[in-house]
Amino acid sequence: MYRLPSLKKNTRINAIAVMTSGGDSPGMNPAIRSVTRAALNQGIRVFGINRGYSGLIIGDFTELKSGDVSNIVQRGGTILKSDRCEAFKDPAVRHQAGEILKEHHIGGLIVIGGDGSLTGAHLLTHETGIPVIGLPGTIDNDIYGTEDTIGFDTALNTALEAIDKIRDTAISHERIFLVEVMGRNSGHIASQVGVACGAEMIIVPEIDFKLEALCFSLASQRAEGHGSSGIIVVAEGPKPGLTYRLANQLEAQGEKPGVCILGHIQRGGRPTGHDRVLASCLGAASVTYLLAGFTDVMIGMIDSKITATPLLDIMEKRKPLNPQLVELAQLLHK
Ligand code: ADP
Ligand code: F6P
Repeated sequence: MYRLPSLKKNTRINAIAVMTSGGDSPGMNPAIRSVTRAALNQGIRVFGINRGYSGLIIGDFTELKSGDVSNIVQRGGTILKSDRCEAFKDPAVRHQAGEILKEHHIGGLIVIGGDGSLTGAHLLTHETGIPVIGLPGTIDNDIYGTEDTIGFDTALNTALEAIDKIRDTAISHERIFLVEVMGRNSGHIASQVGVACGAEMIIVPEIDFKLEALCFSLASQRAEGHGSSGIIVVAEGPKPGLTYRLANQLEAQGEKPGVCILGHIQRGGRPTGHDRVLASCLGAASVTYLLAGFTDVMIGMIDSKITATPLLDIMEKRKPLNPQLVELAQLLHK
């Protein structure tokens, strides 16, 4: 099962900092707990940075003791708060952030967040020389270098719980429902949710979609005796409003679709067991890598093994969507 790295300590780091950034995800808290306890166990002081890069650039740090991370392994959200900080895109502001870390004698930083946060992490270490390690914390599961991101499994299960309920109504009223899930530019949430809820169709940004194909598929499913109800899972895509536009197009074709936008419900809630184990393994491993002298990498998990992928790769490469999942959902309706 999960094998943790056994790297030798190779640095003189006495204090590290940890922060969460971008959209919160369930599992950030167990990751913070793991980073904190793994460092404290090796005699390293730990500072929590409040509100992501917004807190970093003003030195909003709180020293974390073991008790500060008690009873958070089961809690959604992030005790450190999270934020999106436009100012951090300015190199001068990142320089200032580096100076603040040096003033506090912080020898390394662990950033937990999505691809945007990890881009900021790469630029920070590249420009200031402060060692930085990234952890993939986002529900979107769109990060190269790890099979699952911290929070994805919980979001998947939250969406499923909601869709199972929507299906009851869809069946009772013999209607189809368009259910929009999050994921920004990626369809990773939609494709897995779609297969797991038995969706009639999955619509994702990575695969061209044709309205005629959807209408044809609904008509043939009815002709084959599958009834008039159904769930179509739609990935939100980069521009808001896609699902309502699609509903209008379907109405023009004589359908009466219901629309349900799941939204931020997918970001909250207690992390699943999978997310807690993943966050705990990656959190402890990030400290091991930092103390061994690594920087500018993201710690992930592939085939139950801990991996360290250059942050530059995370920025430049896209995690491919598995198109077979989208096809499978439709195949299982024939
Ligand atoms: P996520 O980390 O969940 O993908 P965002 O894309 O909103 O969320 O990024 C979170 C934060 O990371 C941004 O608000 C910003 O502070 C920082 N960030 C994102 N992109 C960059 C960039 N190109 N340069 C520097 N910092 C960035
Ligand atoms: O990146 C996580 C995510 O939840 C995306 O799936 C979604 O598009 C975005 O964040 C929503 O961001 P906000 O919370 O700023 O509305």
